[in-house]
Amino acid sequence: MENDKKYIVLGDDYKGYPLNMFCVPKHYEDDLEHVLIPAGLINDRIERLAREIIQDFRHEAITGLCVLKGGYKFFTDLLDKIKALNRNSEESVPLAVDFIRVKSYTGTTSGEMTVTGIDNLENLKDKNVLIVEDIIDTGKTMIKLLEILQKYNPKSIKVASLLTKRRASGTGFKPHYLGFEVPDKFVVGYALDYNEYFRDLNHICVINQHGIEKYTTKK
Ligand code: IMP
Repeated sequence: MENDKKYIVLGDDYKGYPLNMFCVPKHYEDDLEHVLIPAGLINDRIERLAREIIQDFRHEAITGLCVLKGGYKFFTDLLDKIKALNRNSEESVPLAVDFIRVKSYTGTTSGEMTVTGIDNLENLKDKNVLIVEDIIDTGKTMIKLLEILQKYNPKSIKVASLLTKRRASGTGFKPHYLGFEVPDKFVVGYALDYNEYFRDLNHICVINQHGIEKYTTKK
């Protein structure tokens, strides 16, 4: 049966896999609840997203814009898959890359955000921009980022996110290309961090209370 959703939904009662079924670094063994998405599955899902992107863009050049730091694994793996398709099919899309970091000032009522990293945002003019992000939670970061980038008159902007969180509140923002919808739990691994830890973990896992306490910066 065809699934009308264009992404995989992991339900609230879905617990993934026990940690001892996979290899996780020793230094994180006590800090994780379970493996939510093993690296192999992430890899296979990205292959399909790459195909969809190629089909949509056809021969039009894409500027892949990686949102650092959390998006870097998804970005490199997605681009590798697009490049493989480019090498092996009749149709191919030229690719350019750029990198940004976004910083939100949550204390301010205007919800200000700065974008750094890229040489010059003016370079996005008339380009087909594909923003590549790790996770969309409330959607506020992405909505604000889109607002900022639109001012530089790109030809088009699309968003690819590996994950979105299913949550009762939020903006309801849905990316154009999405890997998985996950329960409203804090997830780490595959470049997603908790206070800069866990980026060196292959699988996407749910952090446990011990992990939160261990890696919460003491003020
Ligand atoms: P939003 O503005 O609420 O959509 O938040 C998006 C950003 O919050 C992401 O780019 C991540 O940096 C961070 N984030 C939200 N949830 C998680 C999570 O479960 N693990 C790691 N980072 C997260």
